[in-house]
Amino acid sequence: MKDLIKKLVEAFGPSGYEDQVRAIIQAEAAGKADEIRTDNLGNLIVLKKGSGGGERIMISAHMDEIGLMVSYIDKKGFARIGNIGGIALATLTGSRARFADGTIAVLYNEKDGWMGPGTLAECFIDTGATSPEDSPVKVGDVACIHRPFEELGGRLVSKAMDDRIGCAVALQALLDMAESPNDVYFVFSTQEEVGCRGAMVAAFGIEPEVAVAVDVTLTGDIPLAKPMSVELGKGPAVKVKDAGMLAHPGVKKWMVATAEKLALPYQLEVLTGGTTDAYTIQTSRDGIAAGCLSIPTRYVHSPSEMVDYNDVLNSVKLLVGMLSAPVSW
Ligand code: CO
Ligand code: ZN
Repeated sequence: MKDLIKKLVEAFGPSGYEDQVRAIIQAEAAGKADEIRTDNLGNLIVLKKGSGGGERIMISAHMDEIGLMVSYIDKKGFARIGNIGGIALATLTGSRARFADGTIAVLYNEKDGWMGPGTLAECFIDTGATSPEDSPVKVGDVACIHRPFEELGGRLVSKAMDDRIGCAVALQALLDMAESPNDVYFVFSTQEEVGCRGAMVAAFGIEPEVAVAVDVTLTGDIPLAKPMSVELGKGPAVKVKDAGMLAHPGVKKWMVATAEKLALPYQLEVLTGGTTDAYTIQTSRDGIAAGCLSIPTRYVHSPSEMVDYNDVLNSVKLLVGMLSAPVSW
């Protein structure tokens, strides 16, 4: 599964520009699904039909990552940037940006140099250009952070674990699923980082009876961390609440019961900031029972998001278990 993860996390795909990620997932899912289509907002919808008598389930993992957009180019060729989603300012200085065509740029700031910027307005990128005329980028061009995938013992590190690791878990569950009574719609959604917009329209179109987002969550296990009872390596987290949603109690029960039946480790998650696709899914139409399977992740929205590989494998097992049996709570 690591090859698949590496391919997905190194791909380019800020919100609204998920094409390269979608192409990778589409190629992997081809032949393993009953139907594959892309909707008008770019969501990739992969249907695995059930044997009948089950539920219509939507699984949502977002393809987009946080990114940067060029807003202005000055006389010397330096470009100013705006954010796409909640980029971690302190991590930008000395970092590198990569554009869709592979163009690389250095990120720096005018305020305190290596001390780091106070605001994004103080940041600029250097593409090596000396004037607007020879700049390889133009206003409106989009970049992601440029970092390779790394394996550190049992931990995996990347610029885009949020949420390519969720895409990898959902995709692997599709590949590993056995016979199921349920019609499962795997949605690889767009524009989560700017307000869960892709999942909103996908849920309206699919009209599922049950939905589960697969996304990363924060941990409380690093030095001076805010108290939070999620740790790396202690298993997938079953979301109870985050800043945008209260998980449906039945969905939470279903997830916990499946983990216990399969003797998989799991953790209960109460997250004080941030949310997932489940936020816009649950308020679609006349309401949809929704929850979230979270992969514990350190350093979220930095260039070095870290997960535990065993948590990833156990998340796949939990999801496969949930999808393969009749839904009950
Ligand atoms: Co995010
Ligand atoms: Zn996410």
